Amino acid sequence: EELHVKIPEPTKPFGPHSALSPLPRQRLDSAGNQMYKELFQESVGRASVTQARSLSGKNILSVAMFTMKEQLNDIYNLASIFKARVHKDRPCDDVLKGKVMASCFYEVSTRTCCSFAAAMQRLGGRVIYMDESSSSVKKGETLEDSIAVMSGYADVVVLRHPEVGAMARAADVCRKPVINAGDGIGEHPTQALLDVFTIREEIGTVNGLTITMVGDLKHGRTVHSLARLLTLYNVTINYVSPTALAMPEKVFNFVAQKGIQQNVYSTLEEVLPETDVLYMTRIQKERFESEEEYNATCGLYVVTPKLMTRAKNRMIVMHPLPRNNEIDKAFDNDKRAAYFRQAEYGMYVRMSLLAMVLGKN
Ligand code: NCD
Repeated sequence: EELHVKIPEPTKPFGPHSALSPLPRQRLDSAGNQMYKELFQESVGRASVTQARSLSGKNILSVAMFTMKEQLNDIYNLASIFKARVHKDRPCDDVLKGKVMASCFYEVSTRTCCSFAAAMQRLGGRVIYMDESSSSVKKGETLEDSIAVMSGYADVVVLRHPEVGAMARAADVCRKPVINAGDGIGEHPTQALLDVFTIREEIGTVNGLTITMVGDLKHGRTVHSLARLLTLYNVTINYVSPTALAMPEKVFNFVAQKGIQQNVYSTLEEVLPETDVLYMTRIQKERFESEEEYNATCGLYVVTPKLMTRAKNRMIVMHPLPRNNEIDKAFDNDKRAAYFRQAEYGMYVRMSLLAMVLGKN
């Protein structure tokens, strides 16, 4: 008995590189038909896994989108390739040639803004800039209108904004992928990705480590994203802060639900000896109600060469930067001081993210 099977047209997500495309349209007998069905199911299964893992065309708004360690491995493998190429002085400017990134920063930035721009340019793409102080935002233009316009000029929009919720508003009107470069006290997903990459590069693994986050855990968006992202690994997380600047309950509960051990301390000395990664943060002065409130909390935790004699020899000190007084400059020459290397890793991770978001599966 001959059967004419109608092989479904690959829908948009299954592009020319998908597992589906090699299967030709053909006449099959019933055995062949059965075999085809199985193959089809299998490849749909595989394609949907690949699809779920792929960042192609996707927004990166929160670390919540990363639910499998494999997704991070994909990002880090590519970041390592870019790192090696840059170190060997081998160009990779063919990767995003002809692509344009819109850099929209409604809040100040040094590293995030410049490393995204450097990443895009190293991949051969170009960058256009827009900020709140020199654009029509001054004339009262809404975020939605500005982003809708930018999405017509660029292939990807990188946005930093002082308000939590701005990313969802922007993504709603943006016809291109939106990457969250920090939303107020909300999240900073690309920072968390580069933080985990830093730990992998510096220590070789993330599993089994004790990570101690110190400082303004209430307003610090980097630690909000990092604590969430670390739940994909087997780690212990310590929090050191004044009670007034404790890790928000929402983040704490999310991490607890994933079965990750979390401990809360008020002094750095007591957790330092067991710490593998000391993640220092700046007290976020701009997010305080009053100067007195800020003054009461700053200067409590300061990394100095003397203090660090209590820490392991094989551990690292990280900081998203900028620092104020929480790490003494005298510590910078210590091999455990990883914060400037961390900033550089950020460029490779952003190269990887841009290549994946703007690339095919
Ligand atoms: C951080 C930020 O903007 O959230 N910086 C960064 O992106 N590397 C940390 C901070 O401002 O303290």
